[in-house]
Amino acid sequence: MPDTQAFDVVVIGGGPGGYVAAIRAAQLGLATACIDEWTREGGKPALGGTCTNVGCIPSKALLQSTENYEHAGHAFAEHGIEVSGLSMDVGKMLARKAKIVGQNNDGIAYLFRKNKVSFFHGHGAFAGREGDLWQIRVEGAKPETIAAKHVIIATGSAPRALPGVPFDNVRVLDNGGALAIPDVPKRLGVIGAGVIGLEMGSVWRRLGSDVTILEALPQFLGAADEAVAKEAARLFAKQGLAIVLGVKTDKVKVGKNDVTVEYTGENGARETAKFDRLIVSIGRVPYTAGLGADTVGLKLDVRGFVEVDDACRTNLADVYAIGDVVRGPMLAHKAEEEGVAVAERIAGQHAHVDFNTIPWVIYTWPEIAWVGKTEQQLKQEGVAYRTGSFPYSANGRARALGETSGFLKFIADAATDRILGMHVIGPWASELIAEGVMAMEFGASSEDVARIVHAHPTLSEATKEAALAVDKRTLNL
Ligand code: FAD
Ligand code: NAI
Repeated sequence: MPDTQAFDVVVIGGGPGGYVAAIRAAQLGLATACIDEWTREGGKPALGGTCTNVGCIPSKALLQSTENYEHAGHAFAEHGIEVSGLSMDVGKMLARKAKIVGQNNDGIAYLFRKNKVSFFHGHGAFAGREGDLWQIRVEGAKPETIAAKHVIIATGSAPRALPGVPFDNVRVLDNGGALAIPDVPKRLGVIGAGVIGLEMGSVWRRLGSDVTILEALPQFLGAADEAVAKEAARLFAKQGLAIVLGVKTDKVKVGKNDVTVEYTGENGARETAKFDRLIVSIGRVPYTAGLGADTVGLKLDVRGFVEVDDACRTNLADVYAIGDVVRGPMLAHKAEEEGVAVAERIAGQHAHVDFNTIPWVIYTWPEIAWVGKTEQQLKQEGVAYRTGSFPYSANGRARALGETSGFLKFIADAATDRILGMHVIGPWASELIAEGVMAMEFGASSEDVARIVHAHPTLSEATKEAALAVDKRTLNL
């Protein structure tokens, strides 16, 4: 029998949490391996996890394609650009998406080679412990057992199905199915008005689907600042995205060519809706299937997440867990930061992830982004605060772009002026939010941001103006 290969660190899962953790560990001089089972057509590995294969990257590719299509159809005319015979080749759009995903898969494989991370393509599971080494079984083309001083679990999450309604990815679609619909459905139903529902609903609405989103909660986008959620609801309704709140889904009947959803509306009325396809986007569940948690006594919480402390330590010696499979927001950048922090801790360094400054972005158009506290949270916590808002309609660059919807808002502590939150709905909110994250990381006040030179004409001037607005001294409003 060949000797078991032993590593300082073995990472199980090659999504944004796992692959970044592996790279950082290798950079710190630790002998590192990463095991990932995702496979693309032809049997090749597809590193990058949910994010790269059926999440962040492909969804943004489709959002960009369909945004271009919508702009060409609706926004170009006012620039004097006449477009006739506009059409969308869905097959070509999906092929472009697949190419981008493949480039990212290959990019991560290159980064592993560059950083000397050993990659094992297959399913990883705890097999036991010998001395101070964890034994990890890899089931792949060449099954083998490897040993690790430290293990990082980064096995991610999977889509949550409606009880009794399994995904078939023909009529009832999870995120993977929603990203690969081969033709534009005439009637598209979506269960859940969360991030996936809004992004995927936008993609297919732009291509001509009649989109209806059924949401269980009575309020829209409860995690966002109320003013942003209100503006978003107004803009989405104007775009033709039908969002029905306070819905209880009673029955889903899957037919050969359609799906029927019976639901009870907010007013108690029983409704029936028929769709060609139904996206179910009601959140995600941690993924630990076949990990061997029972074999080694790895503790999961009641919801199935791997239980960790603030430093991502599990109940097992030298075993950590990061990303979607542990508590906290299910975001790629949160998974990455935890991965880096854990690798640094294993190498004896001190690392910290600041959960107060994790930005959220919804890549609809206009985009929605925020960091820090909302007004409703601060009211609940009894914190005195001041706010400053600035509308894009008063920003020169936004006017030139033809993108004047929305606003940018700062919330600052009433006594110290320290920034507690930044909330944006408008063009390129995803990029603008970085300034709020930076400001909060450095403990900046709204006055600090107001005094920073911002290039003219840029959307970022709205950031400066919103900061000035906290002290009621905007210059351009
Ligand atoms: P994952 O990315 O899920 O990776 C886990 C990996 O582990 C997978 O490759 C899996 O195959 C592998 N694995 C699991 N178990 C084993 C095992 N036992 N052995 C071997 N391999 C195993 N987040 C953002 O921040 N921005 C976005 O724009 C964004 N868009 C999204 C859009 C959609 C449609 C979806 C579904 C998600 C989106 N997310 C976004 C969320 C983001 O994808 C996740 O938060 C992120 O992928 C979590 O990273 P992770 O490394 O924890 O897990
Ligand atoms: P989500 O948590 O964002 O939204 C789920 C929505 O479904 C909620 O509004 C919830 O109230 C509703 N819901 C739950 N059960 C329901 C039911 N039975 N009937 C009707 N509505 C119901 O989850 P989503 O959209 O599935 O996305 C999963 C996660 O993936 C997100 O939480 C996010 O972490 C990540 N993601 C991030 C993106 C980004 O950063 N831009 C994009 C897409 C996903």
